[in-house]
Amino acid sequence: MERVLSGMQPSGYLHLGNLMGALRNWVSLQDRYECFYFVADWHALTTNYQNPSLIRQYTEDLLLNFLAAGLDPEKCTIFVQSRILEHAELHILFSMITPLGWLERVPTYKEKKEEIKDREIGTYGFLGYPVLQSADILIYRARYVPVGVDQVPHLEISREIARRFNYLYKREVFPEPEPLLAEFPKVTGLDGRKMSKSYDNAIYLNDPPELVERKILTMVTDTQRARRSDPGEPERSPVFQLHKVFSSEEERREIAEGCRTAGIGCIDCKRILIKNVFKVLEPIWQKRQELTKRPEILKEIVNDGINRATRVAQETMQIVRETLGMYYP
Ligand code: TRP
Repeated sequence: MERVLSGMQPSGYLHLGNLMGALRNWVSLQDRYECFYFVADWHALTTNYQNPSLIRQYTEDLLLNFLAAGLDPEKCTIFVQSRILEHAELHILFSMITPLGWLERVPTYKEKKEEIKDREIGTYGFLGYPVLQSADILIYRARYVPVGVDQVPHLEISREIARRFNYLYKREVFPEPEPLLAEFPKVTGLDGRKMSKSYDNAIYLNDPPELVERKILTMVTDTQRARRSDPGEPERSPVFQLHKVFSSEEERREIAEGCRTAGIGCIDCKRILIKNVFKVLEPIWQKRQELTKRPEILKEIVNDGINRATRVAQETMQIVRETLGMYYP
């Protein structure tokens, strides 16, 4: 089986956008590939180094939700980046051969530097973010990396680093990884913008059911439909955007028709959405609850993942050290 690897930064609690956009795709890949999935806690430090205790909380939330959402430890390897020290070793070696120009050109670097004003992120670690990501990927010699389009420039860096390493040391140690871009549903947030923790418009997997219900019931709809008796336009309503992700085609057709003819009201429409969102969340809540009751199981699963990941990472590092001739038994 070909190897797949991906990671998620613990920079917030997991929300429906992450679930539908990334995690569900991870789950679907585990039958067809040998998958390695991890929590990139060092990466979260690059932008949140003032607050490591939060990163710890988010890491635990992610691990719990990975399993609750259906990652199966029998089929895939789940681990935490900072527990595999070899990532750091490979990162430092890569940092020696990566020209600064490659990193300064990365669009996410330039954008984030503009965007983040409340923290000093003109740091060494932040510039080197894609170098660390390259180490994450290449240390497992992964073939495919399921990510969103925003991550493609980072993947390109990892391909360039692989090529440069192989060329400099005249040995094909690292295969060039490829992004695996699935068709992700775009999950709209409560305010109609993209669902994101930074917009404060998200539904989180650990929101209690009452809160999920309240969040949906208080969403804005078509602002031009002032009264129940007025016909509305579903495309103007963020609630309808969510129906596109969570409701069946038939339901969607009925809702659109009902909205345009004032046949149904906004509350009716929201009730259907709540029902369908609950259909996705209920099994996750249930699994989470089981896991929370038995924390030793989660711990065992992650430790087992760490052991499996360590074996592969050590194997690669042995080859790397030998290739460099820097190996002192
Ligand atoms: N940069 C990725 C993100 O923000 C997270 C990440 C870190 C990652 N290391 C990785 C993704 C390696 C894929 C492979 O989403």
